[in-house]
Amino acid sequence: MKAAVYYENGGPEVLKYEDVPDPTCHPKGIVIQVAAVSIEGGDTLGRFRGMLATKPHIVGYQAAGEIIEVGSEVTDLKVGQMVVTTGNYGSHAERRAVPARNAWVIPDGFDIQKAAAIPVPFGTADDCLFEFGRMKAGEIVLVQAGASGVGVAAIQLAKRAGAKMVLATASSDERLERLKDLGMDFGINYRRDDVATEVKRLTDNHGADVIVDSVGGPTLQGSINALAYRGRVSMVGMAGREPMKVDVGSMMGGNRSLSGVFLGAEITTDRVHNNIQRLINEAARGELQVVIDRTFPLSDAAGAHAYIESRAAVGRVLLIP
Ligand SMILES: NC(=O)c1ccc[n+]([C@@H]2O[C@H](COP(=O)([O-])OP(=O)(O)OC[C@H]3O[C@@H](n4cnc5c(N)ncnc54)[C@H](OP(=O)(O)O)[C@@H]3O)[C@@H](O)[C@H]2O)c1
Repeated sequence: MKAAVYYENGGPEVLKYEDVPDPTCHPKGIVIQVAAVSIEGGDTLGRFRGMLATKPHIVGYQAAGEIIEVGSEVTDLKVGQMVVTTGNYGSHAERRAVPARNAWVIPDGFDIQKAAAIPVPFGTADDCLFEFGRMKAGEIVLVQAGASGVGVAAIQLAKRAGAKMVLATASSDERLERLKDLGMDFGINYRRDDVATEVKRLTDNHGADVIVDSVGGPTLQGSINALAYRGRVSMVGMAGREPMKVDVGSMMGGNRSLSGVFLGAEITTDRVHNNIQRLINEAARGELQVVIDRTFPLSDAAGAHAYIESRAAVGRVLLIP
């Protein structure tokens, strides 16, 4: 099969399009013919500095397609079904093998490209807001990097859960403009304005009750500074690629809390597995919007990664084999 591979970490240019052996099916797994690859934030980060579990390495968490092989011990999936899958690597390819537990059935008639973009960003945003952020109706939510995959999911989920106000940050006014239809009430251009100051101004000095922060680095201290009394930050990523430096003392006076969130640690539990299937079903019914910015051919994975790193994409960029 063909795959986008690399032999060393680096910029988008390390990605090459090559022939590699087909994946084999584990007794407890499935193999899919990939129809759409969703490039996750962790994929660009992984290419930049992640471990190469294989050489050449096929990066990528998430892809959707048709099941072409089912392991002898798998009873709940069958050949011909359309599924979306996750795994530690291997999505940027014409075929991929995953444990059956890492597959979710796509409801009949639902756009496979949209389904491809759901499990990790929506499952993560949901956990950041509700499981770890304990968000309640009437609270104020701030989504850092609102135009990211996790961000566009978090804005919608917070609004739908009855947030009194949903604030989001991005690196330009144009990017913020595109988030209004998803439920963002006010946008903060962090290149121009200080986030904590703007949050306090927009909330009559209350601050944000729940913050989803997938950027990390110095942004994380800005999130803590923007918290309301008893506010909670879900720290879920390091898109900014800078070291995390936080003054823990800034949390005590306001009874504030900071939780690390890692979906991968619980993705095979019934709780997260069922949660992701529910989110897929809701999107299929049109209750959630899946924002696809652009598609590229799999052969141009380097171009797709470069486009993402240009910070122009809002929502997801897909690769089509
Ligand atoms: N812990 C978990 O379970 C989990 C799950 C999912 C994702 N993540 C992590 O969360 C982060 C975001 O994931 P995602 O899929 O939402 O990413 P994404 O769709 O690729 O978006 C990343 C966003 O981060 C912002 N950003 C800020 N500084 C950046 C920089 N130096 N380089 C590139 N982008 C920068 C950009 O928005 P602006 O230009 O508007 O700032 C960009 O849109 C990643 O670090 C990912 O690994 C973690």
